Amino acid sequence: MNSITYDSVRKLFLLQTARMSYAFTISSNGKLVHVYWGAKVPDSGCFDGMLAGLQADTAVGGVNAGSRPYEYRTQDPFVYGDIALLPIFADGVRNARLVYDHHDISEHALVVSLRDEHYALAVDLHYDLFGDLDLISRHAVIRNNGDTAVTLDVIRSATVNLPPRQDYRITHFAGNWGAELGRNQCMLTQAQFLLENHRGTCAAHQQQPFIALDPRGESTQNCGEVFFAALCWSGNFKLCVEKSYYGDVSISAGVNDFDCQVDLPAAGTFTTPALAIGFSDTGFDRISEILYDWQFDWISPRPKAHDVRPIIYNSWYPYEFDVREDNILGLIDKAAHIGAELFVIDDGWMPKRVNEKAGLGDWVVDPQRFPRGFTPITEACHQRGLLFGLWVEPEMVNPDSDLYRAHPDWVIADPTRPRSEQRRQLVLDLSRDDIRDWAIDWLDKLIDDYQLDYLKWDMNRYLSENGPKRDLSIRFIQNLYAIWAHLNERHPKVLFENCASGGGRADFGMVPYADRINRSDNARPSDVMILHEGFTTLFVPKTAGGAGNISSDASTPLPFRIHLGMTGSMSVGINLLKATDETIEQLRQATAAFKLVRADLQNAYVYHLASATEKPYAVWQYLRRDRKTFGLFAFAHGMRHWDRNLPRFRMRGLIADAIYCAPDGSRHSGAELMNVGIAITLKGDYDSSFTFYKEG
Ligand code: DGJ
Repeated sequence: MNSITYDSVRKLFLLQTARMSYAFTISSNGKLVHVYWGAKVPDSGCFDGMLAGLQADTAVGGVNAGSRPYEYRTQDPFVYGDIALLPIFADGVRNARLVYDHHDISEHALVVSLRDEHYALAVDLHYDLFGDLDLISRHAVIRNNGDTAVTLDVIRSATVNLPPRQDYRITHFAGNWGAELGRNQCMLTQAQFLLENHRGTCAAHQQQPFIALDPRGESTQNCGEVFFAALCWSGNFKLCVEKSYYGDVSISAGVNDFDCQVDLPAAGTFTTPALAIGFSDTGFDRISEILYDWQFDWISPRPKAHDVRPIIYNSWYPYEFDVREDNILGLIDKAAHIGAELFVIDDGWMPKRVNEKAGLGDWVVDPQRFPRGFTPITEACHQRGLLFGLWVEPEMVNPDSDLYRAHPDWVIADPTRPRSEQRRQLVLDLSRDDIRDWAIDWLDKLIDDYQLDYLKWDMNRYLSENGPKRDLSIRFIQNLYAIWAHLNERHPKVLFENCASGGGRADFGMVPYADRINRSDNARPSDVMILHEGFTTLFVPKTAGGAGNISSDASTPLPFRIHLGMTGSMSVGINLLKATDETIEQLRQATAAFKLVRADLQNAYVYHLASATEKPYAVWQYLRRDRKTFGLFAFAHGMRHWDRNLPRFRMRGLIADAIYCAPDGSRHSGAELMNVGIAITLKGDYDSSFTFYKEG
């Protein structure tokens, strides 16, 4: 059971989850000082030996004293770590000196209010629990209680302190367009290790705002302690891990202060994005379990309404911009035949949108290529039992568009400099509320008019200049979330895909709003093996999307591509109007087989028993969350002759005394499968297999 308590005798806040404890205290001069984060301890008495030192007046100390682990670090005297807050007051003073004021505890939430010792500035530190999940979501609310404006120069969500005096290994995910979510690891030295991004419109094409730290780098997939932090923010962010000479290690994370300041008017407030922090006592797999449970049960949209994701046929890979009524109607027919359940017209359906040079911003159907509008398309889909979806890119505009000709002042630009184009497009100033409302209006109308069941929201360029407004990068993302929140609320039955040139916005800021995440534009099977491992470390597999997860890359055998397509939210990228009868039949059989196990695979934890980054094969176990069924995928790539002698693979997480039935009818106890393991045969490159076991 989880609990949040304040022990007034010890002056100790203690947050308890299933397997984690987190504690902090109030020092004698009113500072909030961190005490403990790690494996669960029974009660607040466990910290008695530490409290006197931590509660002593933090202002006292010589040059050799180091500094206390502050719970929300500001520029107190002789504090030199990365700070969480830097206000600039009207008189020019530039620091916050925060002390405890009061607190409020409810069943799953703690708010500790701090106030500046001199200025009318307050900071509420929020700690939210999610049942007994080993995860705490932290954010801060900065309140200007004075009658003059305060400028916020640095505004982080939290400072988090780790158990000190040990070496840590850092694990983080970084990448690029087409190479999202690559895993990186290194040991932390006495330095600041900085993950940051200032591309403005998305983060994950550079750095995923996530970090994990394991003591001494000794933890494995299923052993050892791992601490992690995930920032729920899709724009410019900063995540700094720092180790001092004394071995103190802390994380500070929040919106990036790069080229950004927020003016807080009198009585104004600023709410930071959340930083979710969590703890695993059984290695990296457990991190995924915690993050999955958080998504499945707490933060994902409408978790009960859409248990599985429909199989998608998307026009992008087969036809790119060349979408017309005739080829689309032909594809719909074939898509229904192979068992797809949702048809998506991707980019190219608007007037003049025959390539990337024109049309973005004019969100009406092209009368030349769709002379009867979408009516015959919608009807064809619905008559064949297919859902219908459309692609949009609401944040962008081509200079060659009616929208731009009418509103050249709507884009983000420096008044004296050329407007830099990327993919021939400019970025609308979504930080403006009138542009936010314009987007909401046309999106609502589009969904209603075309009876959309699905909307794929794309975003294909980064910011290159921020214009004159200093808080643009923050307001842009806040308004982006406001639109997504509106769409979810106003269209509860519509499914939404979060795409940003592939996986540019695969992050926890977007998770609450999207049913599907475009993992990458790169659908090449050997790359997808690696992309998917990064993706499923953090995100639930049923959201793992892409325009064609069953790729059109014919250099890889179709069964291999089909098996890969089964590992996420299935979509077909093969041109069905050009495919052979044999391919069509293989796809038809594949979707039918997939539907039988889809609910199990899409509501499962994923364990990487062998990683494609380390071996010439990947073996992934998909364990349904109630642990009663599992699917086992194996994929070979780059295998040499002797690599065919694969080891037996020991399953994880099964119920030891349950009996699991294999596809050949043989029966095995969970204990056997977890200890003796399962033999897998891969005959060489691009061989693959899938087997499914169920209890009973
Ligand atoms: C990038 C997306 O990731 C693709 O799936 C596709 O929608 C294109 N944009 C369309 O321009």
